[in-house]
Amino acid sequence: MVLPYARLGVNIDHVATIRNARGGAWPDPARAAKAARDAGADGITIHLREDRRHIRDGDLEAVSGAMSLPINLEMATTDEMLKIAMDFKPHAVCLVPEKREERTTEGGLDVARLHNVVSPFVRDLSENGSRVSLFIEPDIVQVAVAEAIGAPVVELHTGKYVEHVIAGEEKEAALELDRLKLAASEGKRRGIEVHAGHGLTYDTIKPVAQIPEIAEFNIGHFLVGEAIFVGLEAAVRHMRDLIDEARSE
Ligand code: PXP
Repeated sequence: MVLPYARLGVNIDHVATIRNARGGAWPDPARAAKAARDAGADGITIHLREDRRHIRDGDLEAVSGAMSLPINLEMATTDEMLKIAMDFKPHAVCLVPEKREERTTEGGLDVARLHNVVSPFVRDLSENGSRVSLFIEPDIVQVAVAEAIGAPVVELHTGKYVEHVIAGEEKEAALELDRLKLAASEGKRRGIEVHAGHGLTYDTIKPVAQIPEIAEFNIGHFLVGEAIFVGLEAAVRHMRDLIDEARSE
């Protein structure tokens, strides 16, 4: 069965991580965004963290001004980030949980518990013209709450699925994949656009790319790592091909 095209958003945060390791100007995230575009990316994702450990404020305009792909800004639900996003007006905003001490976004935003906090962000950012998504665990309750607070998009956290695959835990990986499938179909049933991402690699993309309701994947760290060996364009192109192949099988 041929599934509808799924967009690929390339997260370039870790190009900035490498740049910041020396505090200079390269590698340049704006150049990475252009390379990703040339290789078939449909969008560029950047996460402005409270501690600015990778993307910095000046990168927002630099990256969006360098190419015309839509920008998906990942951000925590803080007043500081809200102000920045309201001024920047990105095509999309993905609200994520953020802990200062974590190495990466460890889990989904618990919207069932935090709906009172999240809801005004969804409203204000939507009214400001950004398409808001909520980064959540693949859980049908979280999807239901996302709909209740008016989020047009959810992004399902694929991190646990990837970890189980990498650890060779087949049963747990299959269970997590089922959770992703269930949450994706629940999203579709409720009229919410479903995205997915976190930790995805060449070896783990296929089963998730075959979930028909997923309209977009956001992938970063693995692609930037691969770029060291084959270049960013080749890495993005290969991921693009794997998604297309999985959806046309
Ligand atoms: N989606 C969201 C919401 C994220 O926070 C991240 C990590 O910044 C990603 C996707 C991409 O994850 P990775 O860099 O592991 O591919």
